[in-house]
Amino acid sequence: MKELRVGIAGLGEFGELYCTILSQIPYVKITRVCSRTLSRAEEIAVRYNIPGISTDYAAFAQAEDIDIACVVTLGKDHRAAVVPALEAGKHVLVEKPIADSVADAQAMADVAAKSPGKFMTAHICRFMPPYLQAKQQIEAGQIGRISTIQAHRNNHYSTLAPGRKKNPLRETAIHDIDLALWYTGSQVAEAHGYRKYNQSQAEADSCTAIVRLADGTICTFNSSWQMRDAAPAGLDAGMRIIGIEGEIEIKMPPAGYRFIDDHSQVAFNPETSLTPVILKQSALAREIEYFLECVLEDRMPQIITPEEAVKALRAAIHIDEKCVEVR
Ligand SMILES: NC(=O)c1ccc[n+]([C@@H]2O[C@H](COP(=O)([O-])OP(=O)(O)OC[C@H]3O[C@@H](n4cnc5c(N)ncnc54)[C@H](OP(=O)(O)O)[C@@H]3O)[C@@H](O)[C@H]2O)c1
Repeated sequence: MKELRVGIAGLGEFGELYCTILSQIPYVKITRVCSRTLSRAEEIAVRYNIPGISTDYAAFAQAEDIDIACVVTLGKDHRAAVVPALEAGKHVLVEKPIADSVADAQAMADVAAKSPGKFMTAHICRFMPPYLQAKQQIEAGQIGRISTIQAHRNNHYSTLAPGRKKNPLRETAIHDIDLALWYTGSQVAEAHGYRKYNQSQAEADSCTAIVRLADGTICTFNSSWQMRDAAPAGLDAGMRIIGIEGEIEIKMPPAGYRFIDDHSQVAFNPETSLTPVILKQSALAREIEYFLECVLEDRMPQIITPEEAVKALRAAIHIDEKCVEVR
């Protein structure tokens, strides 16, 4: 099999997780890492035996020694690495949210449309069995027309790093917003909500939003970084999709799935894991390997398209802008 030369830009918590996963894939060689902090790039390069180091996203993006750029910087910095990489003909896997602004997101999608490189935004929930199972049941008509989607997503208190992950809608509820748009094929028509500032007056750490989609589906999105650190997992996520003929309930972690209609109730634990320790089973590993397969097989990723990533961001920003601040 052809060896793929991969570079990783953005060496925070998730960037290092990319290094861990990619370093275990036999047909991958991590040839370059990039952090604006030289000491961090050097630390990761030594830990994972990576020969190339950059401290500038644009220089990284154009480096001769990478075929694939994984951009795991914060959303506001994605464009600075993604656009030059696509212009240089590289394949690009960028973390969600695709960007911090619709202008940046659209600029990336436009460049991607003209580039020979493959481009995908890493919306991890699209690779998680419970959410995929829900999509299949919805498409098969098993819950009928969707009436309501109730979603929550709570994170450990300490994982809100001041100045970094700063927006509960764009950073975390965007997972559920993307899923709601994917399940319904609709778009946001009206939004109300509250954004709360508990840990800091500069950065909100929780939100509750109620949204009407154009097809009449009513959604609630709750997300926060307020879950106490003693909670056993860093994430508590759930979604209830209520149709006029049945409903689906998803919880994770551990993954749980329940389907109910007038005739039966089925509950099971779909195979999934958010635990980095079980790398081969994690959704992140599946997502990365899917992208690498698309590169190897010369096909555009279909599981999440650039247009869908822009649509999810546009919706998240719109809802966020409609939220009232509570301080
Ligand atoms: N799919 C998911 O469930 C999921 C989960 C978490 C994060 N993400 C996404 O992944 C991206 C990165 O998030 P993250 O969790 O990695 O953010 P993070 O840990 O807060 O890191 C963000 C940036 O801060 C700098 N940084 C962090 N730790 C550093 C250190 N020890 N030394 C020097 N610089 C450091 C890095 O800048 P440099 O770029 O200069 O290296 C890094 O890119 C975001 O787009 C986020 O939304 C996705």
